[in-house]
Amino acid sequence: MTRWTSDLATGNPAIDRDHQELVEIVDQLKAAAAGGDQKARLSHALDVFRDHVLRHFPTEESEMEAKGYPGLPKHRQAHAVLTSLVVDLVGKDNSGATVLYSEVDQLAQALYRHILLDDKPFAVFLTQA
Ligand SMILES: [Fe+2]
Ligand SMILES: [Fe+2]
Repeated sequence: MTRWTSDLATGNPAIDRDHQELVEIVDQLKAAAAGGDQKARLSHALDVFRDHVLRHFPTEESEMEAKGYPGLPKHRQAHAVLTSLVVDLVGKDNSGATVLYSEVDQLAQALYRHILLDDKPFAVFLTQA
C-alpha cells in the first residue's frame, strides 16, 4: 500500500490535495486489482481513477499556463502519454480482458514518478516566480 509521504509534496496546496486524493484512489484501485474475482469493483475503481486523472491534468496545465511556466509543452506531452496509458487500461477492462495487479502497479509507479520528476519542478518554479 502506498501512503502519502512528504517526498510527493510539491508545496502547491491545490496540486497537493489532488495528488493526495490520487494516492488514495490508487490504493483502492490496487486493493480491487488484488481482489481478483470482483470485476465490478475493479471496473468501478478504474473509472474513478480515470476520472480523477482526466480532471487533474487539465487543472494542472491551466495553472501552469496562468503562471507562464516554460516547462508546459513538455509537461503536456507527459500528461498525454500517461492519459493514453490510463485510457488503454480502462479500455482493456471494458473489453472484458483481465486487468492484472502488475499493470495497475506499473501505472501507479509511472504516476508517482511523474509527480516527483515533473510536477515538483513546477512547484519549485512557483516559489522562484
Ligand atoms: Fe500532477
Ligand atoms: Fe503533471
